[in-house]
Amino acid sequence: MIPTLTWTPEGVRFLDQTRLPLEESYVLATNYEQVAEIIVTMVVRGAPAIGVSAAYGIALGALHTEAKTVQEFAPEFEQICKRLAGTRPTAVNLFWAIDRIKVLFAKLLSSGATLAQIQERILAEAHAMYDEDIAACKTMGAFGGALLPEDGGVLTHCNAGALATCGYGTALGVIRAAVEQGKQIHVYADETRPFLQGARLTAWELMADGIPTTVICDNMAASLMRAGKIKAVVVGADRIAANGDTANKIGTYNVAILAKEHGIPFYVAAPWSTIDLATPNGDAIPIEERPQAEVTHHAGKQLTPNGVGVCNPAFDVTPAKYVTAIITERGVLRAPYTASLREMETVAG
Ligand code: MRU
Repeated sequence: MIPTLTWTPEGVRFLDQTRLPLEESYVLATNYEQVAEIIVTMVVRGAPAIGVSAAYGIALGALHTEAKTVQEFAPEFEQICKRLAGTRPTAVNLFWAIDRIKVLFAKLLSSGATLAQIQERILAEAHAMYDEDIAACKTMGAFGGALLPEDGGVLTHCNAGALATCGYGTALGVIRAAVEQGKQIHVYADETRPFLQGARLTAWELMADGIPTTVICDNMAASLMRAGKIKAVVVGADRIAANGDTANKIGTYNVAILAKEHGIPFYVAAPWSTIDLATPNGDAIPIEERPQAEVTHHAGKQLTPNGVGVCNPAFDVTPAKYVTAIITERGVLRAPYTASLREMETVAG
């Protein structure tokens, strides 16, 4: 299993994703501020992994507090949550994880728990989220694997794999499960400009599993589809609104339109923690704008003329009408998503 993030007695150990695939190195976070920095700089990235990282960040903050009483710690707890919530705005899993710890904290406060009990329970909750994340990926993999073709090319965008979760992956979990079911899948991985999650991370983790993979530049997908090389698309998500509109890595929307034009199914795989029923549609999803240097430079080398205008939205929204199905650990949802998401929330929530 790829050790995306691991709890150790010293702190949280992160596989440094900014250095992959050339270097497999680790960064240790011993306090919540370091976890926040690690999320901002994308040493760890991917919606589910960010959420669990934030939960461990709060645990570190609680364990290392200088407060002597719960009352003294309470304002510090708010500050820790605020710092971690301010790291990346689009992946709702971040806010889902922080809110879950906040609810626990409020419950413990009102039950008169001691600081030591609170520290222990927050860490236990973070561990639970970690385990649940892997379990959710495996279950959605089993549901989604069944939807993929018996053989042929499957396109994915960005990295929604083990590296974006606590293990196994969402979109790549679906692909892994299909391969485990005996299907002969060949993955086409969009390189995913500008941060190259596809070229660097998806390629690295699929090769480690021996799954046949071809990296393509983002602008090659249309011509591969036209040539009949892509039988399905499967991507992850950072936030799915109540109507099924889906925010994912910038460029996902292009792929969805291309898939529709070529009659290719377009699947979104995500855990229920990515579903945001409080956000009515894609227009209400906040889109992170990343530093211009991610576009103007590569590996420290300048690519563009000084002073040129640059925009760098990290995500885009794919309207629900392009989504063939949403694969979750609760089951596979179909349009109309407003009804199917609401129904699944009520039945399984
Ligand atoms: O900017 P990133 O690398 O955090 O973006 C990641 C994605 O867009 C993933 O597709 C998404 O978070 C789903 S990960 C299971």
